Amino acid sequence: MWVYIKNLKDHIGKEVELRGWVWRSRSSGKIAFINMRDGTGIVQVVVEASSVDEETFKNARKLRMESSLIVRGTVISEERAPGGVEIHAKEVIPVQIPTEDFPINKPDHSIDYLMEHRHLWLRSRRQMHILNIRDAVLKAIRKFYWENDFVQVDTPIFTGAIGESAGNLFEIDYFDYGKVYLAQTGQLYLEAACMALGRVFNLGPTFRAEKSKTRRHLIEFWMNEAEVAYFEHEDNLKLQENLVSYIVKYVLENAREHLEALNRDISKLEKIEPPFPRITYTEAVKMLQKKGYDIEWGDDFGGDEETEIAKQFDKPVFVTHYPRKAKAFYMQPDPDNPDVVLCDDLIAPEGYGEIIGASQRIHDYDLLVERLKEFNLPVESYDWYLDLRKFGSVPHSGFGLGVERTIAWIAGLEHIREAIPFPRTLYRVHP
Ligand code: 4AD
Ligand code: MG
Repeated sequence: MWVYIKNLKDHIGKEVELRGWVWRSRSSGKIAFINMRDGTGIVQVVVEASSVDEETFKNARKLRMESSLIVRGTVISEERAPGGVEIHAKEVIPVQIPTEDFPINKPDHSIDYLMEHRHLWLRSRRQMHILNIRDAVLKAIRKFYWENDFVQVDTPIFTGAIGESAGNLFEIDYFDYGKVYLAQTGQLYLEAACMALGRVFNLGPTFRAEKSKTRRHLIEFWMNEAEVAYFEHEDNLKLQENLVSYIVKYVLENAREHLEALNRDISKLEKIEPPFPRITYTEAVKMLQKKGYDIEWGDDFGGDEETEIAKQFDKPVFVTHYPRKAKAFYMQPDPDNPDVVLCDDLIAPEGYGEIIGASQRIHDYDLLVERLKEFNLPVESYDWYLDLRKFGSVPHSGFGLGVERTIAWIAGLEHIREAIPFPRTLYRVHP
């Protein structure tokens, strides 16, 4: 019976078939050891010349790193082995044996070399753990919304109107239509959908032609956005802290072994539960000025400022009420002070930066037109978006969570490029 390595504990004393690849192997005289991986774990296969036929033993000695193979044998309980089991082989069947050395075979390859071989680097243990954590984060996101009566609405990648800001758009020639853009956000479409369905979310790739080379920026990244009709600023904050806490808890419960394998400090993640601390933008600026940062009211925060703010807290922190001029055109002004908007950025602890951008949206037709003009955006491209303010407009709010930044934080990754299988950065679209 074909069994995956992670399930071997349930088959002790039984005969099983494993299908996978050679992780490492060595042999001496009458015995060969194959450390075998199959995507779910690694197990040691022991091949003794005395207990297999000659063909099998010869095969076992021929294998080299990343040979694919099928093994049939008995599962033996072995306390000293990782995972508590090993396999005593009866049959070893090579599937394909490489004719050259596997390119990733040293502990000290440069990051450029590893990225150039990303298609093979994915087979390393570290990458396997990270991709499992990513999978858990994506499952958690969907589960959270489905448990909370949201409807998934998939938003388009080709978009006719600028969704977020003019500065970092990918332009595409779209037949007779002329220029369209790759989606920076699905928000505008979710706003339409929430007026139809009430509570909606999306989860998909977004694109930003950002010339930044920081450890927090990708050109193509995944975003999860939510939009709720009749939600105001305060409701929006609660939804965000509940979502983020749920994701962390889900990963702790379902992918703990992967966090441990990466030596993540789990005690830091165990503190993540609502409510999250909040400070206003204005308070944050004062705090930064006191610490000697060269920042004026009105400036946006960079990575260093975000890290400084995050240092004061051991949970993610909401920075709210940014200046209108520093944020996107669609944000609802604060009725108590129209120079600031009802928005928040959620900054992750430990220096992982902004993981959520959020706001209440302008629901008044005239005010939205005024803002589009203030931001020099072509009002005619927003005809459909403005319609939402003509037909039963209501206050509504939403946010976008950066999936890779969230993964980088939860997994404790130095750089965001490891949080996505095939990262697109300023200098890399290959492989
Ligand atoms: O703050 P942003 O730009 O917000 C929006 O796009 C809103 N329209 C979302 C909404 O309200 N529906 O982006 C949201 C999040 C950021 O907080 C950040 O975590 C992530 O997306 N993000 C990036 N992640 C990786 N690489 C980049 N270049 C990113 N730009 C933004
Ligand atoms: Mg933002």
